[in-house]
Amino acid sequence: MARITVVNGPNLNLLGTREPSIYGSESLDDIHTKLCTAAEPEHTVHSVQSNGEGAIIDHLHQAQQAADGVLLNAGAYTHTSYAIRDAIAAINRPTIEIHLSNIHAREPFRTESVIAPVCVGQICGFGWYSYILGLHALLQLLGESSS
Ligand code: DQA
Repeated sequence: MARITVVNGPNLNLLGTREPSIYGSESLDDIHTKLCTAAEPEHTVHSVQSNGEGAIIDHLHQAQQAADGVLLNAGAYTHTSYAIRDAIAAINRPTIEIHLSNIHAREPFRTESVIAPVCVGQICGFGWYSYILGLHALLQLLGESSS
């Protein structure tokens, strides 16, 4: 049994209505439901969202005790936040960087991720399915995958 925490950053609470041509029409609740369907009954998925940098760091700190691995979509903080990068490095839990959009095919400022060096890997460009791919990758890494 693996405990997965999914941390979502700023503006992702608006998924479903936020620029659907880029981010799709699924809400964050829809994505959580899809993750649970893919993970249960063997594994647990705990999803959180915050628009604030400090709260995201607090969620990562909590994951050190509460989770075996983390899926993190840090939103725009991906490109700027050394504090979130340091939190990922500090918690000693495998963390996979997730993006709905292909950040490498968008504006130049999005192509840099300051958190990528401390994440196990990065999955981007598959819409809500990026999260499912991230879940499978994390379970494989944790030795919890049978496929
Ligand atoms: C995002 C990409 C970021 O550049 C952007 O700021 C987001 C969403 C994505 O999931 O594609 O908020 O992380």
